[in-house]
Amino acid sequence: MELQLLLQAVHLRYQHDFRQYAPASMRRRMRQAMDGLGFARLSDLQHAVLRDEALFNCLLQYLTVQVSDMFRDPGYFLALREQVLPELATYPSLKLWVAGCSRGEEVWSLAVLLHEAGLLERSIIYATDINPQALQQAESGVFALERAAQFERNHRLAGGHGALSAHWHAGRDTLVFKRSLRRQIVFADHSLATDAVFSELHLVSCRNVLIYFDDALQARAVGLFREALVRRGFLGLGGRETLQFGPHAPAFRALPGLPAEVRWYQRL
Ligand SMILES: C[S@@+](CC[C@H](N)C(=O)[O-])C[C@H]1O[C@@H](n2cnc3c(N)ncnc32)[C@H](O)[C@@H]1O
Repeated sequence: MELQLLLQAVHLRYQHDFRQYAPASMRRRMRQAMDGLGFARLSDLQHAVLRDEALFNCLLQYLTVQVSDMFRDPGYFLALREQVLPELATYPSLKLWVAGCSRGEEVWSLAVLLHEAGLLERSIIYATDINPQALQQAESGVFALERAAQFERNHRLAGGHGALSAHWHAGRDTLVFKRSLRRQIVFADHSLATDAVFSELHLVSCRNVLIYFDDALQARAVGLFREALVRRGFLGLGGRETLQFGPHAPAFRALPGLPAEVRWYQRL
């Protein structure tokens, strides 16, 4: 009850709507936030957050999970490369959406993959999130150099051609993706909880985002994807996410022959 009041207040004050997130994980993250920010009671946190926007931005870092990786779950990107891109290649131009792009690992992976398939030049990738700090970092294309080996390993497992390092400039501690990839990406604030469809799309990749939503909010988000996708457009989800039990299942078919944890759907 107290948690719902806080989420209601945050929605009214900051327009960020967490009211339909899965309750158990929301409670867990709110407890972490109270510990981390030094509040013993939810009501005290609420009081302070409503008066202090900087504190709300700190709270947002606890409420949104930013774990990601380049070519995360390489089998997903392998299926994208082998089964999805050949059909997308038949379109004269492409619009793709990475919803919940976090700090950018997924969107830079997609840009590399499109480049390798010779499709990047005719693509626009929309990369959206609700966390402004994560979006800013995503847009910078900067990652810790110590992650390079893992990125390269995943790229190879995803069927990548050549050296991934050819796509970035390496400094002392960081790597920065090249501007030539950046030109085709539009970064923007967009919430799957409150915002509407913004374009007609050929592919949506929304991974490890729906798991944080309750059933009704998952249905809202998938409804946006359904509305945005062209007929025969593709939807990719995370390994623990499925359309199977939701109201939009009849509008999609699962791509056949994929490993159980690789979730690619096609709009009917
Ligand atoms: C775990 S990350 C997923 C990153 C990437 N898609 C991946 O699978 O590696 C979840 C992301 O979803 C974002 N997110 C949470 N609620 C959202 C919402 N309502 N609309 C859009 N993005 C949201 C978070 O800010 C976070 O960046």
